[in-house]
Amino acid sequence: MSQYSVNPAGEKFPLPKPEDYAQEYQRIEGLVQAARKDGKEIVVVMGVGFVGAVMAAIVADTVDKATGRPSKLVIGCQRPSPRSYWKIPMLNRGQSPVKAEDPEVDPMIARCVNDKKTLVATYNADCLKLADCVVVDVQCDYSKQELGNMRTGEADMNALEATMKTIGEKIQPNCLVLIETTVAPGTTEFVAWPIMKKAFAGRGINAVPLLSHSFERVMPGREYVSSIRDFWRVCSGCTPEARERVVKFLKEVLNTEKFPLTVMDRPIESETTKIVENSYRATTLAFLNEWSLFAERNGVDLIKVIKAIKMRPTHSNMIFPGPGVGGYCLPKDGGLGFWAYKHILGFEDGDAIFKITPTAIDINDTRGLHVAELTRDALRNMGRYIAGAEVLICGASYRQDVGDTRYSGSEMVVRKLTEMGAEMRIHDPYVDHWYELEQQDVYPAPGHSWSRFFRNQEGLVHAAVQKDLAQAIKGAEAVILAVPHEPYLKLNPDDVVKWAGAPLAVIDCFGILSDDKIRRYFELGCEVKALGRGHIQRIKKEVKGSSAG
Ligand SMILES: NC(=O)c1ccc[n+]([C@@H]2O[C@H](COP(=O)([O-])OP(=O)(O)OC[C@H]3O[C@@H](n4cnc5c(N)ncnc54)[C@H](O)[C@@H]3O)[C@@H](O)[C@H]2O)c1
Repeated sequence: MSQYSVNPAGEKFPLPKPEDYAQEYQRIEGLVQAARKDGKEIVVVMGVGFVGAVMAAIVADTVDKATGRPSKLVIGCQRPSPRSYWKIPMLNRGQSPVKAEDPEVDPMIARCVNDKKTLVATYNADCLKLADCVVVDVQCDYSKQELGNMRTGEADMNALEATMKTIGEKIQPNCLVLIETTVAPGTTEFVAWPIMKKAFAGRGINAVPLLSHSFERVMPGREYVSSIRDFWRVCSGCTPEARERVVKFLKEVLNTEKFPLTVMDRPIESETTKIVENSYRATTLAFLNEWSLFAERNGVDLIKVIKAIKMRPTHSNMIFPGPGVGGYCLPKDGGLGFWAYKHILGFEDGDAIFKITPTAIDINDTRGLHVAELTRDALRNMGRYIAGAEVLICGASYRQDVGDTRYSGSEMVVRKLTEMGAEMRIHDPYVDHWYELEQQDVYPAPGHSWSRFFRNQEGLVHAAVQKDLAQAIKGAEAVILAVPHEPYLKLNPDDVVKWAGAPLAVIDCFGILSDDKIRRYFELGCEVKALGRGHIQRIKKEVKGSSAG
């Protein structure tokens, strides 16, 4: 096994050795004793990933509303695995282990670690013995076995179950435990609570574990911190006491005056809230896929249709699905619900009951494949083949102006076009490394990459994300505008063709091109295709007609 953990920038951190644990515990215990003297509450955050690292900083930044003094010492705790250990030494230096577009993240972590000294990180889970409250932010993934069929997938409960066992084995009986992880409904009461009760019984503790649930609604992007702290929360507890404690804790650390808490009776209700919320979003996005195809084939611009519909306040949150939906949550959360119905709650008729959510997720997961068809057809109309073509994809992340590539529609596009023999180039102003490609053998986990659904994927480990657009486009035969990142909205067709060196195929996946730009591309001898934009044919005819005339 590797002796190092390497951070995304390539810095190596030696893994702790068994003999280091005792000293590390002493270090944490010393900090805790000093904090207690100061009247601070001790909060352990388990899992310092995208959500946990920022949540830990938000709690560490909390002040007593009466005195204005810091009221919590936060200990971020993470397994010392080669894959994740590096997050601990980075946090201890005051550096964020997650790359965020929100300018508030880096200074907040630096402030809490270095100035306020209210945030530390450790690999030693014994810190749980010192906690008044534990927040669980480990992942709970949903792994799909087949492309476009979420029904055969399964929830991966390992990290969560292992964490709950460790917590049950170490915490004090009166410690509050708050699960923030998005879990399959029923997990808090029927999986996590029994694990903790068993661990308590093994320690001869009679008390009932104080377990609660409150899911995250964090949104990657410029409002990252705000989307945790200044946003509405839903919570619940397994017992009335756990409920009271979680309400008190969340009121202390979040802006609940402006964004009131919703308190549910039981954890399965708050768990289901998250799953339904995200299944609803996945469904309304997927629903537009069929109308997108309808629009392409019947001279309709779905982008304008949506704009027209959104004038009605009742329909104002309709959004165009782009080349897929992506992000960490929408592709998996409905799956957690579908899986829980059978595997936690014990019902056998899941296939009959769940019609819409699985279909929606399957549609969203495979929408990117159609972009590959459009690229192939655009090149064909220019007398070229996709095999061997130099194709640039603009945008690797799952949504505009963020660098988060998890399950992005662009990945599906790149994989399908690579399978068809295209030579793919990648540009994204917000992404430095596209780990889903570069580390496809181990990321998101060994055997889980989408690469397994396609042939000819080996070379993608060498994929490099380019930053200079003019350079990236040089000599390209097709450009796919996959994500509406700000720099792409401003692109001028004359520049694009000049940089490419010749007319090229342009594929718009997100309503990025105005009609004027589409017209200009045709005038310059390009071919244009787009998701959901059938009116392009009309513009093409107009341009061809006027040039013939
Ligand atoms: N990222 C988002 O945009 C987002 C939005 C809303 C909700 N959520 C939910 O928040 C939860 C966490 O997501 P994330 O994006 O932070 O995931 P992540 O993978 O970035 O972080 C999870 C962390 O937990 C650590 N971990 C795993 N097992 C552990 C253990 N036994 N002990 C200690 N640490 C352990 C991992 O190493 C990792 O650092 C998920 O349920 C997710 O669905 C995420």
